[in-house]
Amino acid sequence: TASPFAPSALELGDHPDHMAKEIGEQPEVVAALLDRVRRRTADGSTWVGLGLPPFDRLAVVACGTSLHAGQVIAGTLRTLGGVPTDIVVASEVDHVVLAPGTLVVAISQSGETADVLRALDRLDERHPVLALTNNVHSSLARRADAVLDCHAGPEVGVAATKTFTAQVLVGVTAVVSALVASGRLEASRAAALVDELAELPERMATAAAVAADRVPLLATTVRDAPGFLFLGRGPGLPYAAEGALKLEVLSYRWAEAYPAGELKHGPLALVDEGTPVVVVDHGDPRLQWAVAEVRARGGFVVTVGGEGTDLPALPRRTDAADLAWGRSTAPWGPIEAVVPLQMLARELALQLGCDVDKPRNLAKWVTVE
Ligand code: G6P
Repeated sequence: TASPFAPSALELGDHPDHMAKEIGEQPEVVAALLDRVRRRTADGSTWVGLGLPPFDRLAVVACGTSLHAGQVIAGTLRTLGGVPTDIVVASEVDHVVLAPGTLVVAISQSGETADVLRALDRLDERHPVLALTNNVHSSLARRADAVLDCHAGPEVGVAATKTFTAQVLVGVTAVVSALVASGRLEASRAAALVDELAELPERMATAAAVAADRVPLLATTVRDAPGFLFLGRGPGLPYAAEGALKLEVLSYRWAEAYPAGELKHGPLALVDEGTPVVVVDHGDPRLQWAVAEVRARGGFVVTVGGEGTDLPALPRRTDAADLAWGRSTAPWGPIEAVVPLQMLARELALQLGCDVDKPRNLAKWVTVE
């Protein structure tokens, strides 16, 4: 079979840009990963094969989009296994103390991010390191005690898209496998979770189709807004953070993500007539409070995921936009929500005349601290 890193894999084909190509590849990247991991996840053998010692806690070390994938992975471990987790921003490692018995999961698409490599040098040598990377020949892979390959194929766009999804998939299946291997999760429950993941390629394709239909007009509607809020709760929060990061990187508009409950403690002051507020809906009814508060102040609500807003339709439907395709209450949150969030960021950037493959001031591989 051809190497995913062969030159042909880097060609655009019919796609307008690498970002569009890489967003579109996500259902097939997920399907191929699930083929690899399906059986070995549910019986715990994926984890056993890594040869890592047992752990009591897990610490994610990463930057940027990889950090958001790490938040999903850590959240899955906490929810399913009650295992305590730490999220370590790699560049902040000097201010972190890890408990004994902590497994470090270092996540890096490139495996060459200087902040991540330095963080591992600064951490106590006694912590075993599992690397999650799309580059198994990287410095990170060499440094780690065990490596999980994300198998996303080459990603050319500076803004990470399909590698995020691959990191999440590889990470959550590893977590499920680890919980079975350590007796914290029943194999039958693990098998049911893997079956749930098998629906993901189709859910992603549906989410992409909904977004393809609605995002162009949506982007036009919010194009002149100077700033955006992204809200989520619990498992939806890392996706809200990723949506905000993607939007600001690509469109150069301010975007901030908050837990929805924090709205009333500060960011609500920013909401004015037409302020776009993107709500990642993973099925928590308490999100409706935030939607109502934003709408009451004339804000423009965009719900991503869920069944759409339950509130009565307003006379002007231009006050809100739903990118909805059905509830997702999985422990890893609405993974497919990332697709419309990526598409919204890309479309807005294109309408504003930005280069979606090469955002200003940023690099794909950041090998300086
Ligand atoms: C750079 C890229 C981001 C990426 C981050 C971490 O800032 O522009 O897209 O998320 O590095 O990269 P890594 O290779 O460690 O995942």
